[in-house]
Amino acid sequence: MSSRADKLPGRLSHSVAETEAIAGELALQLSPGSCVALYGDLGAGKTQFVRGMVRALGGNPRAVSSPTYVLLNIYPTPKLTVYHLDAYRVHGPEDFDAIGFPELLEQGRLVVIEWPTRVESLLPANRINVSMITTSPRTRKITITHLNP
Ligand SMILES: Nc1ncnc2c1ncn2[C@@H]1O[C@H](COP(=O)(O)OP(=O)(O)O)[C@@H](O)[C@H]1O
Ligand SMILES: [Mg+2]
Repeated sequence: MSSRADKLPGRLSHSVAETEAIAGELALQLSPGSCVALYGDLGAGKTQFVRGMVRALGGNPRAVSSPTYVLLNIYPTPKLTVYHLDAYRVHGPEDFDAIGFPELLEQGRLVVIEWPTRVESLLPANRINVSMITTSPRTRKITITHLNP
């Protein structure tokens, strides 16, 4: 198999467990106030990635689900509180503004967002972008980019 995605930089995950491990590694490097934007199509593994972050931080991975309808899920962990947002049903930045997103960024939590393209103009310039591409039913190409660190 040699699709274009295979040649991208980044890591190839061969399983859900490996995706969670990559996510956990990242989570343990982050500090309060970090913002992680998760790019990828439906089923790419964005929610699974958040589950790996919460597990590594000592939180309850079973509490993690896509906040598609509620916009925001909150997971306490011994290390950091995780704010999990999903902009899938958001029309534009005004909607995120209305739920107080700029204030959420100021609270010293770990903020993770699925479908960030909808609200990109509101995201901090120093965020971490994670791109997930489905390369086969079981494999995902995961690329992590620290913007303006
Ligand atoms: N390597 C992998 N990494 C992450 N998820 C995978 C992988 N292989 C298969 N999957 C499956 O892909 C789906 C990802 O779902 P989910 O995390 O909800 O995606 P998203 O939030 O991006 O829509 C799950 O059903 C998961 O079991
Ligand atoms: Mg999801």
